[in-house]
Amino acid sequence: MRLWKLSYISTAVAAPDEALHQLHEICARSDDRNARAGISSIATVHRGRFAQVIEGPEDAVRALLRRIMGDPRHHSVLVLADAPLVERRYADWSMTYRDPKAFIHDQIDDILKQTADVVRAMKATWH
Ligand SMILES: Cc1cc2nc3c(=O)[nH]c(=O)nc-3n(C[C@H](O)[C@H](O)[C@H](O)COP(=O)(O)O)c2cc1C
Repeated sequence: MRLWKLSYISTAVAAPDEALHQLHEICARSDDRNARAGISSIATVHRGRFAQVIEGPEDAVRALLRRIMGDPRHHSVLVLADAPLVERRYADWSMTYRDPKAFIHDQIDDILKQTADVVRAMKATWH
C-alpha cells in the first residue's frame, strides 16, 4: 500500500474558543483510531480555520478524509496537498494538536526539505 500525504484547511462552524475546545476533543478521540489505521497527523486551529496534515496508507487517508468532509463542525474543506509520500514526517504522532506557530514552522521545514530533494534530484540528472 502506498504511503500518502494529505493536508487541508477548513472553516470552523463554532466561535474560535469553542473550535479550539472541539479540536482538543477531536485529537483525544482520534488518537487511538488513527494509530490503529496507521495514520499519523497534526492539526491546528487559527482564526476560525482548522488545518490538518494526514499521513498513512492511501486507502486509510482517503477514508478519513471522507469522514472529515462530512463532519458538521466545519465546512469549506480545501485540500492543499494530496500526494504520495516517501517518508513520514509525523511518525510519532497519531493525532496531535500543534499550536499555529509550530504547525506553520513544520510546514515551512517540509517545503524547504522538499525543495532540497527536488534540487538534488535535478542535479543528479545533469551528471
Ligand atoms: C478538523 C477535524 C479534524 C478531524 N480529524 C480526525 C482524525 O484525524 N481522525 C479521526 O478519526 N477523526 C477526525 N475527525 C472527526 C471525524 O470527522 C469523525 O467525526 C470521526 O472520525 C468519527 O467518525 P464516525 O462518526 O463516522 O465514526 C476530525 C474532525 C474535524 C472537524
